Amino acid sequence: MKNKKPDFSHLSPNQPIGIFDSGAGGLTVAKEIKRLLPNEDFIYFGDTKHLPYGEKSKEAIVGYSTQIADFLLSKNCKAIVIACNSATANALKEVQDWVAGHVPVIDVINPVAEKVAYEIHNNVGVIATKATVNSGLYKKSIRKHNKFIKVDELATPLLVPAIEEGFKNHPITHAIVYNYLSNSKLKNIETLILGCTHYPLLIDEIKQYYGNRVRVIDSPNIVVNQLQMILDKHHLLRENNSKPTYRFYLSDKTKNFEKISKKFFGKAVEVEMKLL
Ligand code: DGL
Repeated sequence: MKNKKPDFSHLSPNQPIGIFDSGAGGLTVAKEIKRLLPNEDFIYFGDTKHLPYGEKSKEAIVGYSTQIADFLLSKNCKAIVIACNSATANALKEVQDWVAGHVPVIDVINPVAEKVAYEIHNNVGVIATKATVNSGLYKKSIRKHNKFIKVDELATPLLVPAIEEGFKNHPITHAIVYNYLSNSKLKNIETLILGCTHYPLLIDEIKQYYGNRVRVIDSPNIVVNQLQMILDKHHLLRENNSKPTYRFYLSDKTKNFEKISKKFFGKAVEVEMKLL
């Protein structure tokens, strides 16, 4: 039986975009949405109560992700961006099935894997959480498009807690970054994918480690280009909006989230609590 083409004609361009992550990592994607799609409103959900997703089972991640999808739909979102690699790797299909074609679902792994596979990359390294690395989705997804690429994935679980604690350009993050990137698995890579949406917050330190030797992929940019393409295809891009609104919900309040969101989105960012 042929797959039915999705029909999103019940949606309107004026509805907000829904974005979620376990915490502050997805803000790297939200920030790129603000930059590339400045007319769009968005609603961001950070599941800080259950962070880190990278240490959770598939079943737990599926449970949290589908509940968040429900919440974003209840807020009238026109698309859901899973701005979390661990949730993409473990719950993409389940979230898609859950929303049952009601809104488009955009993930952070497939668009990046496809882009890397079609450009000239031979030895690709991926650093990510345990939940993402254990799923093997980056390797599968890249090799689906280009089976000649060598992909080495390394779990780097100390990065998310350090970032959520607000460390950046600090001896702690320098030591963690140095320790992981010098792992022999990543010895011959030419390209590095930051397979966790938190990691761009340490991009300076990561680039500093490599100098010009390794190309570090800008995943938020690739993901938002994909989002733009999908919204455009379904006539859901908002054309003008003099005062875009950004709303943030957390399942538990954290100081660092407010700090990063204020830095990214200026002024006072209002964070509301939504228990999950
Ligand atoms: N930002 C996330 C990711 O991309 C989640 C990290 C975590 O909660 O462990 O995987």
